[in-house]
Amino acid sequence: MVEKINNLLEEIKNLTASSKEEVERLRIQYLSKKGILNDLFNDFKNVPNEEKRAVGQLLNELKNTAQEKINSLKETFENNDLGEQIDLSRSAADFNLGTRHPLSLVKNEIIDIFSRIGFTVAEGPEIEDDWHVFGALNFPPEHPARDMQDTFFIEKNPDILLRTHTSSVQSRVMTSSEPPIRVLCPGRVYRNEAISYRAHCFFHQVEGLYIDKNVSFADLKQALLYFAKEMFGEETQIRLRPSYFPFTEPSAEMDISCNLCGGKGCPFCKHTGWVEILGCGMVDPNVLEECGIDSKVYTGYAFGMGVERIANLKYQCKDLRMFSENDLRFLKQFESAL
Ligand code: PHE
Repeated sequence: MVEKINNLLEEIKNLTASSKEEVERLRIQYLSKKGILNDLFNDFKNVPNEEKRAVGQLLNELKNTAQEKINSLKETFENNDLGEQIDLSRSAADFNLGTRHPLSLVKNEIIDIFSRIGFTVAEGPEIEDDWHVFGALNFPPEHPARDMQDTFFIEKNPDILLRTHTSSVQSRVMTSSEPPIRVLCPGRVYRNEAISYRAHCFFHQVEGLYIDKNVSFADLKQALLYFAKEMFGEETQIRLRPSYFPFTEPSAEMDISCNLCGGKGCPFCKHTGWVEILGCGMVDPNVLEECGIDSKVYTGYAFGMGVERIANLKYQCKDLRMFSENDLRFLKQFESAL
């Protein structure tokens, strides 16, 4: 028995295997229930008592050696497998950096265009007080124009509301700084409208304000013509139609020649050749005075546009709701845009 064990010890120490499967075969051959070692343990009861101690020790040594050998053989193949899986020449996995939202793309483009003629960006709170949204902007109390914008009021305190336009930021800039002022006010605004494909209870605006000595309506028109051409192409034309806003006098709405049909007329522009894109006008002297700016010295112009509207013109997205639904199938289409 002792000789048999010693032979096996030697044999096991020299075991080699060329595959995982072979190691498994060896394990079964030596260590399984029906394996060689188990047979030896079964024979152990026949060993004379006086030899039991020495033979038992040997047997245990054999078992440990076999276990270690099989484990170490197994390990070499596991490591090798990993080695085969790693392809060091493969390029690294892509980083998923996300994409810009189409509204951010358009907002950034508008800001970029106006920043080239000296406009900087000002931002303010979405939850505002009445004065900044209406009071400072020549909306007298009870003026029906307050209804024009379907305001969300905070129930417990009607002085606090969700801004209906980013003109509230213009009130803040006018009260806190001295002319010359040349700012763009981008941001989200809220109006109590039923949600449909063409209206939402929130949307985004970029408004502009320029106040200095001798600012004229011609300056406004020139700045807007420049913007329209930069945004929609050199061939774009503009037209101004008289309109009304409490905070500007005179006021106008601006159309651009339809960028889809080039002004010839199509379903998109309802066959008029023109599409409306923004409101504008000369800042009403009452607004300047209310905000602490001397209206005898300074004049200014202001304009405001909806980012969704501009985005629709650029991308012809038929349903406004797409902009706030986070549908990746929609958003991924803007992946390659800057
Ligand atoms: N605040 C106006 C609106 O939200 C847009 C506007 C801004 C019009 C500035 C004229 C001048 O509709």
